[in-house]
Amino acid sequence: MDQDLMKYVDRILISEEEIQAKVKEMGKIITRDYEKEEADLLLVCTLKGGVIFMADIMKEIDLDVEIDFMAVSSYGSSTVSSGDVRIIKDIQESFMGKNILIIEDIIDTGYTLEYLTKNFKDRGAKSVKVAALLNKEGGRANEFHADYVGFEIPNEYVIGYGMDFNQKLRNLPFVAILKERYYK
Ligand code: IMP
Ligand code: MG
Repeated sequence: MDQDLMKYVDRILISEEEIQAKVKEMGKIITRDYEKEEADLLLVCTLKGGVIFMADIMKEIDLDVEIDFMAVSSYGSSTVSSGDVRIIKDIQESFMGKNILIIEDIIDTGYTLEYLTKNFKDRGAKSVKVAALLNKEGGRANEFHADYVGFEIPNEYVIGYGMDFNQKLRNLPFVAILKERYYK
């Protein structure tokens, strides 16, 4: 990795290999859980952070799935959630009567997913579940629980594998802890 990018990295928390193994395992479990379902399965990626996880996990789900993307915002340019969740870009596919699986990079306060799951249910989805690569249990401001979680991580700001700091560093292929001096 370019030394210019590595200067932001305090330490690598989850390697590329560990992520790939976990994504394969999650894909198998999701396939097994939905294979007897009659209703269509729609994978909904939350932009931008979920984009690498989406691209990787959709290949490991051995079912006839549809995909779509949405963008929500709750952070502004800060590293702390404001709790005020807004839909910036809605999904385009119709999802009445379909099973939705939200593909999310990380759950921190839980505000984003609490809002999204309720929103999709209110608008007529048959079911709404969540697959998150990372979970910061210590960051939770509500009772939200994801259905599929890759890794439990400490309550620190992470970058890479889709996750940003000021819109950058999403292209790191691993998950790393951001050096404290960049956000404190
Ligand atoms: P929540 O609403 O607080 O659960 O936060 C959800 C969103 O905030 C995630 O989908 C991420 O896009 C972003 N986020 C939360 N924690 C981090 C982090 O440590 N690094 C980068 N993005 C984060
Ligand atoms: Mg996200």
